[in-house]
Amino acid sequence: MRYNFLLITFCFFSLNAHNIAIIGTGYVGLVSGPGLAEFGNNVICADIDKEKIERLKRGHIPIYEPGLDQLIQRNVKNGKLSFTHDVGQAIEDSDVIFIAVGTPMNEDGNADLRYIKAVLKTISEHMNGFKLIVIKSTVPVGTGKWASDQLQKWGINKQKFEMVSNPEFLREGSSVNDFLRPDRIVIGTESEEANYIMNDIYASAFKDGALPLNTNIATSELIKYASNAFLAAKVSFINEIANVCDATGAHVHTVAQAMGMDHRISKHFLKPGPGFGGSCFPKDSQALICIAQKKGISLPVVQASLITNQLQKIKPIEKVKRLLDATSLENKTIAILGLAFKANTDDVRYSPSIDVISVLQDERAIIKAYDPQAMENMQNIFPDITYCLSPEQAIENADAVIIMTEWPEFEKLNLKKTKSHMRQPVIVDARNLLDIQELKKAGFHFATMGNGMHMQ
Ligand code: UDX
Repeated sequence: MRYNFLLITFCFFSLNAHNIAIIGTGYVGLVSGPGLAEFGNNVICADIDKEKIERLKRGHIPIYEPGLDQLIQRNVKNGKLSFTHDVGQAIEDSDVIFIAVGTPMNEDGNADLRYIKAVLKTISEHMNGFKLIVIKSTVPVGTGKWASDQLQKWGINKQKFEMVSNPEFLREGSSVNDFLRPDRIVIGTESEEANYIMNDIYASAFKDGALPLNTNIATSELIKYASNAFLAAKVSFINEIANVCDATGAHVHTVAQAMGMDHRISKHFLKPGPGFGGSCFPKDSQALICIAQKKGISLPVVQASLITNQLQKIKPIEKVKRLLDATSLENKTIAILGLAFKANTDDVRYSPSIDVISVLQDERAIIKAYDPQAMENMQNIFPDITYCLSPEQAIENADAVIIMTEWPEFEKLNLKKTKSHMRQPVIVDARNLLDIQELKKAGFHFATMGNGMHMQ
């Protein structure tokens, strides 16, 4: 067994609190940094975006994430967490470097590793001692090895660092809870000492019941893709079942409830909707297909979940046309309630609302939109639709309402009042938020996802 003297010394001197640099303050870095500080480590969150870092130093959190503000304030106050735009200095001041930069999808579906490479380059220029380099970003299988080769190509001695894969499983809107109370913590490394340090960094999470999963780097990298692609396929599956329910008059929630009573299936992730969005499911499913393709393997199940998802995103349009008995929505006023790809986030990346608004624009409909958090982000994509200050304002004089995101305030819509302010009493509830009996009582023509569309 090769013992790395540097690493053993490093273990010995950093046993209490580890000095950690988090490179990248996006959705992942900005939660992981404060989370690691909460676990008792000393953490510097670093980003090349100076303006963003200055805002963070002033306590302005650039993303909407419940509980994140308090988590950051608490750890800044107790001196465990700080922010800097001097990435090099953060690396020199730390023993463990977490890479949490984006890996967006390329046109060909592969993960774009340019930001990972840029951080590795900066690390190679600031190697003032032994470093544990932890890739938390979602990266293709083999990236850890590629990163190690890259550093050695830049003249860094293999004895001076160890690579670790430590994927995140954070859901937007609940990422603080998911980080502090994870189901499992996956640690991928070929080095026993590195594994020891990583388990020490997460010690308090394990004390609270998180389960460690120690494996090698490639397996850890694949676990992330397999988990996301499976969850995405599960969503596409229940959406397909919902479509069968619409055609047969069955009720999808009862089907899902019965399925979920089988512990092998579990009741989670069986809510039909307008399709999955977000920065992960679409990108990671596609990246997994590309990873397999490079090895000559096709993944028809993963491919199908993406195809189903694309079709699902425009189901609300089909339903609203059927309810209005219209082949075209030209000059119809359509109110879109919900722009974020799901509730409790301001993120609109790959949101189904983007597809719905695009089709409505092509049909020259009049679009009024409302979302409690995501309107600013959607304005970057669709600057010329009407953004309203309340659901009521969006509904005013609408020919139809489409509920796209499961924000709690939409469940409380006053149906009687809503109907009196609409041109026609037509609702497509793409998240099954509203009570069907109440909709019937209020005299709406409506469609849901999976409750026998033509039955209403
Ligand atoms: C996901 C994974 O859950 C998380 O582990 C990973 O780290 C990042 O990607 P996120 O994309 O934030 O998290 O959201 P998630 O709550 O998983 O929902 C993903 C999409 O599936 C959303 O568009 C959501 O509306 C949709 N969804 C989810 C459904 O349509 N039905 C469900 O039952 C669950």
